[in-house]
Amino acid sequence: MSQTILLTGGAGFIGSHCALALLEAGHRVVILDNFATSDRSVVAAIRALAQADVPLVEADIRDRCAVAEALRAHGVDAVVHLAALKAVAESVERPLAYYDNNVGGMVSLLAAMDEVGVRQLIYSSSATVYGEPEQLPLREDHPLRATNPYGQTKLVGEQLLADLAAADERWRVVSLRYFNPVGAHPSGLIGENPKDRPNNLMPLLVRAARGRRDGDNEACLSVFGTDYPTPDGSGARDYLHVMDLAAGHCAALSALRADRPPVQAFNLGTGRGTSVLELIATFERVTGHHVPYRLAERRPGDVAELVADPAAARDALGWVARRGVEAMCRDSWQFATRGEAAS
Ligand code: UFG
Repeated sequence: MSQTILLTGGAGFIGSHCALALLEAGHRVVILDNFATSDRSVVAAIRALAQADVPLVEADIRDRCAVAEALRAHGVDAVVHLAALKAVAESVERPLAYYDNNVGGMVSLLAAMDEVGVRQLIYSSSATVYGEPEQLPLREDHPLRATNPYGQTKLVGEQLLADLAAADERWRVVSLRYFNPVGAHPSGLIGENPKDRPNNLMPLLVRAARGRRDGDNEACLSVFGTDYPTPDGSGARDYLHVMDLAAGHCAALSALRADRPPVQAFNLGTGRGTSVLELIATFERVTGHHVPYRLAERRPGDVAELVADPAAARDALGWVARRGVEAMCRDSWQFATRGEAAS
């Protein structure tokens, strides 16, 4: 059934891919973004790729009146809430900004939704809510705990939704716990914003591969940790193509039904771990570009391995990740080098 979806953070990395997936599935999409960490040109790219008129509301989720007005004006049925700050290290330095945006912003958004009578929400959560894993692969019933302010804000968000749904049976919410989203749209026109200061492995890996081309000696990638209990000693993660992640949001929309539990949480991952060294080797093979790297100390706060058990999303949503690490590397590289002559 076609619905009108308000997509907060719709111009971001995950939001832009979700917008396209939702439009392709026949929904109407309204993007709400404050462009704090995204670019206006992304909205134009979404419109061009979808060949659709995608309304844009330039507003902050903390502006309750603006959000309520957008919900009313566009006749919104459900909200996909992605707008948040997401850098772990920055959250340690600026906890107030994280609580303000991620928790305060969510309270304000939910209050606006309640006021207008829109009580269906998909929430962008994270595998970070599991903290240090006690058992792998991670199932949704693994104990939840945060190990940094960013993770704490994601966990508070999930708890807030549970409290809200317990207080008012009209709410339907699905939390999606993302593992490590990478890759880009196969068009090469949207991807991870290159303006962001990269913190995550794939953008840093791409920068290292490009840096060598550009004569930038600083771009050597550090492989954080060589003595983890993994086959090659480097850390392993469950990398997930952002196109598969976007498809997961479409699948989750269908679970916002009266006959489903009011609060549901699903892992979005592939169920397969890839080490840092494996990812580098695959990237080099797929793109034909060398990645300069050096072996380095473990990064504080990192764990050896994080891998999802994605069975619940498969069983309840009919969702499975289809794209492999090769496609993730190829599409990340294509986006990073768009518009450049092949070399
Ligand atoms: N890594 C390196 N070198 C780098 C950057 C990362 O070796 O320069 C390694 C890390 O040690 C880790 C792996 O690459 O083993 C992935 O690191 P990322 O920073 O890309 O991702 P994380 O798994 O640390 O964190 C991500 C998100 C968080 C989220 C978490 C959930 O960035 O927001 O997944 O599990 F909370």
